[in-house]
Amino acid sequence: DWTTGNIVEEQVQRIREQVGTGRAICGLSGGVDSAVAAALVQRAIGDQLTCVFVNHGLLREGEAEQVEKDFVAATGAKLYVADEQERFLSALEGVTDPETKRKIIGREFIRAFEAAEAAIMAEAAETGEPVRFLVQGTLYPDVVESGGGEGAANIKSHHNVGGLPEDMQFELIEPLRTLFKDEVRAVGAQLGLPAEIVQRQPFPGPGLGIRIIGAVNEERLELLRKADAIARAELTAAGLDNDVWQMPVVLLADVRSVGVQGDGRTYGHPIVLRPVSSEDAMTADWSRLPYDLLARVSNRITNEVDGVNRVVLDVTSKPPGTIEWE
Ligand code: XMP
Repeated sequence: DWTTGNIVEEQVQRIREQVGTGRAICGLSGGVDSAVAAALVQRAIGDQLTCVFVNHGLLREGEAEQVEKDFVAATGAKLYVADEQERFLSALEGVTDPETKRKIIGREFIRAFEAAEAAIMAEAAETGEPVRFLVQGTLYPDVVESGGGEGAANIKSHHNVGGLPEDMQFELIEPLRTLFKDEVRAVGAQLGLPAEIVQRQPFPGPGLGIRIIGAVNEERLELLRKADAIARAELTAAGLDNDVWQMPVVLLADVRSVGVQGDGRTYGHPIVLRPVSSEDAMTADWSRLPYDLLARVSNRITNEVDGVNRVVLDVTSKPPGTIEWE
């Protein structure tokens, strides 16, 4: 029968057998899943694990700092930070197709881990054994939606499943592959991770790259980061963080509409708010957020974010919509 204690023990045992005396790296994204996977593998193999945080430039405001601080404080794990913004932004230049974006991001993550591996090996000159294993926080729904489940259609390629390049050098360790999010949170709590990590709202590995509808560039990222930070701050200030599963903030970069601000005409971009409630992300309903909160978010975004003159609310459930727009 299923208990979180059993899961932890069973996985720790399994990981030890798989890794032996080898070395592993774990990609941290700042999200719940990779943090729990890392903590689990650390429990199993200790210092044979190095965590790698790839800053791909598609992060939200404050996210990189949070990983470096919270995760290390909670686990004491070895952390290697790789600044890979240039790699991802140049690979994504001019790309608008959602699946192409996802595959590029999945591929560049692996390339970034390979580069990190080389750097880590160079630093730790004491052992010649290369890193053979890559830990990922892949969950059951990621596998299903990427077309990996039985009879499943490919809805979108999650960066850590359908987006992996065929020639990658790592063997995967995916201790959460049969679990749903609520189970992962329970495992994280069992492992002693703090609430700030295990209760965090989901954020996709491809980050803001799949929340800019249109090509990704630094200017658009900057704009979306500001809008997202405002929306998140207001949701938190309203005390409603626990009432929504997550709230993607999306920039329609290829759409412009006419507005008026001060005494002038504007021709700016819309921002979409996509607050949803869900049990496991397989299905979702749009969240009925209070109108006064929506009004505050809209006023602040249109006043404070240059280039945005309209805020719209997504009132679509999943299905037929997915949670993310790409
Ligand atoms: P969708 O958009 O498919 O999203 O309804 C379901 C859940 O998965 C997250 N998501 C991802 N997470 N890598 C991730 O780590 C991905 O490529 C990815 N795509 C979607 C999404 O935020 C939601 O929680």
